[in-house]
Amino acid sequence: MRVFNFAAGPAALPLEVLEQARDEMTDWRDSGMSVMEVSHRSKAFIAVAQQAEADLRELLAIPEHYKVLFLQGGASAQFAAIPMNLTRSDSRVDYLNTGAWSAKAISEAAHYCQVNVAADGAACNYSAVPPVSDWKLSAAPAYVHYTPNETIGGVEFGFVPQVTAPLVADMSSTILSRPVDVNRFGLIYAGAQKNIGPAGLCVVIVRQDLIGRARDGTPAVWDYQAVADAGSMLNTPPTFAWYLAGLVFKWLKRHGGLAAAAERNRAKAALLYATIDQSGFYRNPVDPACRSWMNVPFVLAAPTLDQTFLAEAGKAGLMNLEGHRLVGGMRASLYNATSIEAVRALSAFMLEFMRRHG
Ligand SMILES: Cc1ncc(COP(=O)(O)O)c(C=O)c1O
Repeated sequence: MRVFNFAAGPAALPLEVLEQARDEMTDWRDSGMSVMEVSHRSKAFIAVAQQAEADLRELLAIPEHYKVLFLQGGASAQFAAIPMNLTRSDSRVDYLNTGAWSAKAISEAAHYCQVNVAADGAACNYSAVPPVSDWKLSAAPAYVHYTPNETIGGVEFGFVPQVTAPLVADMSSTILSRPVDVNRFGLIYAGAQKNIGPAGLCVVIVRQDLIGRARDGTPAVWDYQAVADAGSMLNTPPTFAWYLAGLVFKWLKRHGGLAAAAERNRAKAALLYATIDQSGFYRNPVDPACRSWMNVPFVLAAPTLDQTFLAEAGKAGLMNLEGHRLVGGMRASLYNATSIEAVRALSAFMLEFMRRHG
């Protein structure tokens, strides 16, 4: 029996995709082998890889002059690979700090170049995006980095920052949740394990003119130009994760693309925030203007009830609701594969739990 899975990542995958992968597991396309057992350089696998890229390009309307790279090392490796590729050691870069993931990106970048934290959400305990009027952007940074959605804090930008330097976005927990105008970005990156597919893959979408100048000593596997030239197959890629991501892209296309995904995600988030706000028992700490569609942290009126809440939710088939270890409380992640039915079930459970314990 499938449960309702609110995990933050690795996260729920679409059942249709899992069933297809199951059906193809031992005999993929009449090959007598699984997709995991064929060479990444075989014609059949290269077709899978190219189709996945084509479908991602179509979903996000990625212009021709952007490269799409399929990498390993997760989004965390990109925290370092981005400055290795886009800066020199005396370069200045701007970072917006809106929470735990921005902070990690900042501390890694600081090993490579001069980091200016142009805005910091500390003053509001990272419960909102600092007002644009308070940002202290540099005159000509190599790039401006931000985290459109903070997976732990549940803080999301409702807008794309307007900057003159190339804009770099860690979209790990928001990519494919709605349409975005890729032209506004110099580089977008995302770990796969939320809205793309299984862990083990990281997608980088980068404007062509920004690459080809990696600093000396950059490992080839992190040199965007080298990876692009090799079709993301400089070495053995995570073939199964790539294949599965391709199935997820097809699934998204079958279900109306990103505009339809956005409508579903908007409705899911609205239902959960309404349940929280109207309860007087649950509380979400984020400024309503900056609330995430994908990750909804909330606390109960009495933290002593946390374990009871999680245990009873688990019995009701509502899984992985514990908050991140850094912040505690609860968190419901509502990625693309989490249905409105799952959110309705969670909402009904929360109201019922409140009646019994409130
Ligand atoms: C916004 C964001 N950035 C980066 C990461 C790190 O990703 P990875 O574990 O793929 O390195 C995560 C992981 O949850 C994330 O949510």
